[in-house]
Amino acid sequence: MNFERNILITGGAGFIGSHVTRLFVNKYPGYNIINLDALTYAGNLENLKDIEDASNYIFEKANILDTNAVDKIFNKYKIDGIIHLAAESHVDRSILSPMDFVYTNIIGTVNLLNTAKKFWTSFEGKKFYHISTDEVYGTLGKTGFFTETTPYAPNSPYSASKAASDHFVRAYGETYHLPVTISNCSNNYGPNHFPEKLIPLFINNIINKKPLPVYGDGNYTRDWLYVKDHAAAIDLVFHKGKDFETYNIGGFNEWKNIDLVMLLCKLMDDKTGNAPGTSEKLITFVKDRPGHDKRYAIDASKINKELGWKPSVSFEKGLSETIDWYLQNKEWLKNVTSGEYKQYFELQYHRR
Ligand code: NAD
Ligand code: DAU
Repeated sequence: MNFERNILITGGAGFIGSHVTRLFVNKYPGYNIINLDALTYAGNLENLKDIEDASNYIFEKANILDTNAVDKIFNKYKIDGIIHLAAESHVDRSILSPMDFVYTNIIGTVNLLNTAKKFWTSFEGKKFYHISTDEVYGTLGKTGFFTETTPYAPNSPYSASKAASDHFVRAYGETYHLPVTISNCSNNYGPNHFPEKLIPLFINNIINKKPLPVYGDGNYTRDWLYVKDHAAAIDLVFHKGKDFETYNIGGFNEWKNIDLVMLLCKLMDDKTGNAPGTSEKLITFVKDRPGHDKRYAIDASKINKELGWKPSVSFEKGLSETIDWYLQNKEWLKNVTSGEYKQYFELQYHRR
């Protein structure tokens, strides 16, 4: 079959990647969607069960550090667009094991850039779209927002590795005119989020009556965005975003961790029939995350004005749907926290 476009999505088996892959496979039947993923602990093909037989979807198990494998896939499918999400994504793990982040996030990204540069003899109709994070900007005080011109000041090995990858992507645009676009997004939440991150970890712990480890005093602020809204923004930036530009994506939805945890506890009690106050009793204040960024908040007015994007799902609705998904998918939760995955849950810096 001749496809209109052949798009490589890296990290398509992960949290955000699976939502982006599903959106593209369903919305664009004329596109061939190739999902390249190494299936690390965070990647799971169960996330894509509903589309695995689609005629415009192909899964390729490969590591972005393996240049030969990436080259072969590029050549085999005549890739003309890349949406690059594959990464080590958890800040706590980057504190314990920074080199994994250097390899995948920096070297893996440069490998992909080199492959694109090598195979794209003409840049006409090509796009290298790099998905990044607001954490590259460092931390905010009580006021203000990150804009596209905020200087980079990463504070964790994770954010430093993402900042380095952003710089390489931008540099390949400047130096080789590779048609690159970057977006930097705030904290996502939603179904299929690996239960090491705040929201799914706490849902899983409440289900299993385990302590809820709040770092420090819990007075840290994050700007939460429903993952399907991020996927919609990625679709828009991929198709309408300008080459060599950066777009900030955020939820206009700031929450202090402790307030969010209290809300989560209340919703969990309501939905599971627990007596009010049951989940709250599980809250345990633990040693703070080293280098913990105080506050993130995105000014998403550029993508709003230029591309017409804004979040469509309210936090109340998104969080409620997310909890329902985890309560209805306990098997998924069990699968990704047991067997070979178990070691990842024992590895938490605050227990050391
Ligand atoms: P995730 O950890 O859930 O998924 C990462 C995916 O990448 C997994 O499927 C994993 O198997 C794959 N992967 C990891 N190393 C690989 C390698 N060497 N080769 C091939 N595949 C590999 O991550 P996520 O939360 O879905 O984040 C996706 C991207 O979005 C990342 O680049 C992250 O930095 C960025 N981002 C995430 C958030 C968030 O809140 N989760 C916010 C902004 C930006
Ligand atoms: O801002 C975007 C980033 O959001 C993404 O780039 C990262 O990939 C993603 O993991 C996320 O990073 P955070 O560090 O903000 O997310 P996390 O869920 O790990 O933590 C959210 C907040 O909750 C943070 O202030 C730390 C705190 N926390 C987290 C965990 C896991 C706790 O208090 N207890 C916990 O057990």
